[in-house]
Amino acid sequence: MTASAGALRCARGHSFDRARQGYVNLATGRAPHSGDTAEMVAARAEFLAAGHYDFITTALCEAARKAYPGGLIVDAGAGTGHHLAAVLDALPTAHGLALDASKPALRRAARSHPRAGAALCDTSGGRPPPADGAAGLVPDVSAPRNGAVSRRVLRPGAALLVVTPETDHLAELVSRLGLLRVDPDKAERVAASLDGFALAGEATLRRTLTLSDAEARTLVAMGPSAWHTARVTVPDGITVTASVKLAVYVDRSISSQPAGGS
Ligand SMILES: C[S@@+](CC[C@H](N)C(=O)[O-])C[C@H]1O[C@@H](n2cnc3c(N)ncnc32)[C@H](O)[C@@H]1O
Repeated sequence: MTASAGALRCARGHSFDRARQGYVNLATGRAPHSGDTAEMVAARAEFLAAGHYDFITTALCEAARKAYPGGLIVDAGAGTGHHLAAVLDALPTAHGLALDASKPALRRAARSHPRAGAALCDTSGGRPPPADGAAGLVPDVSAPRNGAVSRRVLRPGAALLVVTPETDHLAELVSRLGLLRVDPDKAERVAASLDGFALAGEATLRRTLTLSDAEARTLVAMGPSAWHTARVTVPDGITVTASVKLAVYVDRSISSQPAGGS
């Protein structure tokens, strides 16, 4: 693509608008869905800025440092760009691209780091960017996954870093407030959606969060039970378990090649 003042233009002459807020709109036709709402994104930005999920960001950066072979870092479902910005800080020569279907999220992601770009697109199908083999890492933190797309964009030796909630994630709030539960078959569904990848490593990350009533409301507001927020009241100082899995996947066809083979 070539860049002009307000747009990117592809070799076939299609033009993709660059929004005033800095992201490029690569959605073609009607978007299948619009991602997180402005309210959800604002709640996520507030909760992440308060540091409650720093243990996830730190582990993601550590995994990124170990796995990075060079190339673009493509955060699939990047939200506000919080995690991408931290990974870029951890990898000082890398450039990043935040992909998301939510305009309110991309307005923040586009400003999240000087070495990050941002693009509106559906990461769950079609042909989202970047070009084949251009990505060195694809972090996917609690966002939809598409194995075929990830395999296409990753270069040889590159890794997909997937963070998903464990079944006891936020269990205290889930049972107290009747929130949506993590599907007990989540791990199997994630593995099935990543056909063609081999698991190269995984770790369960768990923390006890101590939250005020307002923080608990913010946490609910950024997630799949956001519609529930008005009914949230919990005692200040409630302790809540945050529990996620960080898994590192590599392309199975490459990981199964004998060492030294051509
Ligand atoms: C739970 S949030 C996680 C955001 C970010 N990864 C983080 O951890 O802060 C999921 C994100 O995926 C985005 N999303 C959902 N479906 C999507 C799709 N089909 N294509 C692109 N983004 C999508 C949402 O808009 C939202 O920003």
